Amino acid sequence: MENQIFLDKDADLGVLENKRVAIIGYGIQGRPQALCMRDSGVDLLIGIGSPDRPSWAAAVEDGFEPVSISEATAQADLTYILLADPPQPEIYYESIHNNLKPNSTLAFCHGFNVLYGAITPPDNVNVVLFVPNGPGHTVRQKYLDGSGIYGAISVEQDVTGNAVDMVLALAKSVGSLRVGSVGVTFQQETEGDNFEEQVLYGGVIHLMKATFDTMVAGGYPPHFAYAKAIRSLRTVVDVMDDIGIEEYISRRSSRTCEFAVRTSGPRVVNYEEVQNIFDETERGEFAANWMHEWALGMPRLHRMRRTGADSQMEQTGREWRDQFGEG
Ligand SMILES: NC(=O)c1ccc[n+]([C@@H]2O[C@H](COP(=O)([O-])OP(=O)(O)OC[C@H]3O[C@@H](n4cnc5c(N)ncnc54)[C@H](OP(=O)(O)O)[C@@H]3O)[C@@H](O)[C@H]2O)c1
Repeated sequence: MENQIFLDKDADLGVLENKRVAIIGYGIQGRPQALCMRDSGVDLLIGIGSPDRPSWAAAVEDGFEPVSISEATAQADLTYILLADPPQPEIYYESIHNNLKPNSTLAFCHGFNVLYGAITPPDNVNVVLFVPNGPGHTVRQKYLDGSGIYGAISVEQDVTGNAVDMVLALAKSVGSLRVGSVGVTFQQETEGDNFEEQVLYGGVIHLMKATFDTMVAGGYPPHFAYAKAIRSLRTVVDVMDDIGIEEYISRRSSRTCEFAVRTSGPRVVNYEEVQNIFDETERGEFAANWMHEWALGMPRLHRMRRTGADSQMEQTGREWRDQFGEG
């Protein structure tokens, strides 16, 4: 299945008929995916840590009757783990591992804990992965619009012979086969995701900050610099995705913009560092650093969050939103 792209026609929701799916965790991804699955006719049970957790109230508000994680797992033919990644191993061994029904399917939304050995599922269950490549609220919005978010699927362990059918049905029920989902390995999904987050999200966010800081230091009004640093990008990314980068640069942007992009753009990207980050990710160094940071209670992240929230760029953004809304 690797490298193949799957569409609605390749999947049959019938494999989930008379089957119960446990959604474990009801947060950024769990809630929207569960709502899509319910609309697709899947029989769901929501498993949440305890009634005093915020997710419990959210599930009740949506008309579910949540139960404990162990109870949901014990009743499920497919257990889909949508807990935040760092606490997953502890919760998994406490409430899931020993309650999985033999020949049932265990699904993840990110391969991190399985790939790096923090979770080792038993030999008698299917182990699969489905991840829609976008934030949860967009997954839900696209589903309601009749579309979906393209996704990635993977099968790590197939004990029943139909693990591929199960994960395809899962992806279909969330709308991700309306626009295509690609088959990958757990390793590709995990390391590809970690690489993208470091290079693309990390790089673009820091490029926005550098644009803003340099312009303000050079005497530009902060609001003008803010518009240049964030808002202008927002307007063109969708266009590039819709018509292609080359078409955008050579036909939709100005000739001055085309000249700037083609001549100065490559000076900004350090390809050697991009490759270094790729290699570090493949060697598991990023994962080890992150697990260490998490185990210590995220001291570096807490410190960086404080500095980030106090920055002039954030302050300018807040002022702008207060005065003019988000448009
Ligand atoms: N966020 C994304 O856009 C995104 C995109 C692709 C894939 N994923 C993957 O989707 C999965 C879920 O991520 P998420 O972002 O949806 O996570 P999340 O919203 O941060 O948390 C999901 C659930 O984990 C529960 N939880 C957290 N700590 C817990 C604890 N100590 N005990 C019991 N429950 C706990 C939360 O419960 P409470 O609400 O009650 O605290 C919530 O129901 C992850 O594997 C992630 O990699 C996420």
